[in-house]
Amino acid sequence: MIPLNSKLSTLKRSAIRVYTNLARTVDDCVMLTIGEPDFDTPQPIKDAAAAALAAGQTHYAPNQGTVELRRAIAAFETNRGCLCNENQVLVTVGACEALYTALYGILNPGEEVIVPTPGFLLYDIIATASGAKTVPLDLAATDFQITKEALEAVITDKTKAIVLNSPNNPTGVVYSEASLAAVKEVVRGKPIFIICDNVYQQLSDGPVPDLSLDPELRDQVLLCQSFSKPYAMTGWRVGYLIGPEDVMERLLLLHAGMVTAVPTFLQTACVTALETDPSPMAKVYAQRREYVCRRLRAMGLRFPEPRGAFYVFPSIEKYGLDSATFCTRMIREAKVAAVPGSCFGGEGHIRISYCCSQENLEKGLDRLEAFLKTLEA
Ligand SMILES: Cc1ncc(COP(=O)(O)O)c(C=O)c1O
Repeated sequence: MIPLNSKLSTLKRSAIRVYTNLARTVDDCVMLTIGEPDFDTPQPIKDAAAAALAAGQTHYAPNQGTVELRRAIAAFETNRGCLCNENQVLVTVGACEALYTALYGILNPGEEVIVPTPGFLLYDIIATASGAKTVPLDLAATDFQITKEALEAVITDKTKAIVLNSPNNPTGVVYSEASLAAVKEVVRGKPIFIICDNVYQQLSDGPVPDLSLDPELRDQVLLCQSFSKPYAMTGWRVGYLIGPEDVMERLLLLHAGMVTAVPTFLQTACVTALETDPSPMAKVYAQRREYVCRRLRAMGLRFPEPRGAFYVFPSIEKYGLDSATFCTRMIREAKVAAVPGSCFGGEGHIRISYCCSQENLEKGLDRLEAFLKTLEA
């Protein structure tokens, strides 16, 4: 093969699919691996897309996104306290592209991005592709919250950004006011961006403290958001990025060069999505979350208290197996699949997703319980 960009050789493949694929080879395996809503997209959103398509919205949209959607997003964000206007909004191909545009757009080779771990693997992939470096901020010893001391210990003169994902994938933990106060105290006024990855924010038990609402940090925050999770629209691939106007003007060039624009008729349907109430789905996740936590506690497993997203992250340390071996054996011996914590920089844990029917959840947790008994025997 003719040599490629050498940075590609250091990129890591997400192991989530590896375990999902392994589970698919086992007949009747219950999948607790999936990180996407099991609901269908609400009908009014689908109808809006079909109507827009029928009306001929099949041409390029403006690079930045349609004025209608950007206005609707700016109003939606302003309404929840993140004051912004439509010029600050960039419509992207999911939060993935929002994150890519934000991180690739700000990172120079050799610079560092702080990623609280356990965390979503994509941040590291983008940083690596940019020639920058991920610096993990290990939260396992601080109850999965951020402390000033721990953050200060990883800040260097090369730090360019910190990523905050709350509610968190894979723990479901919501960062406390104290965690965010620590971040603010350490980075405010420094040439460091705060990337708020808020994709699970609408799927939470209560208010989520959020630095994107803080007027004193407006020049430093880049907000990444998605239609995927709250509205069960993962396959639509629409999200957005919001930041200071001068920064967004430059980041737009990257986005325009990469994807030109998000499909026009999808953007029209996303205006309808913003008028849709996601709380009925959020309530179902909350009920499942409560059920999973109750079952795991009864099995004697410990885990950080999840308050959102659709994941729980129990410790399996006491079984003396690394998380990859644990998950592989669980698939083969108990026919239930979860994702090893090592995929998120959280060895000693597994990620259980409850994006499945109550029936499957019960079956999967019964099998997990039986598997644990074989390990204890
Ligand atoms: C924390 C986090 N951020 C961003 C994304 C990307 O979401 P999407 O590109 O579907 O909007 C995901 C998807 O799983 C995620 O878990």
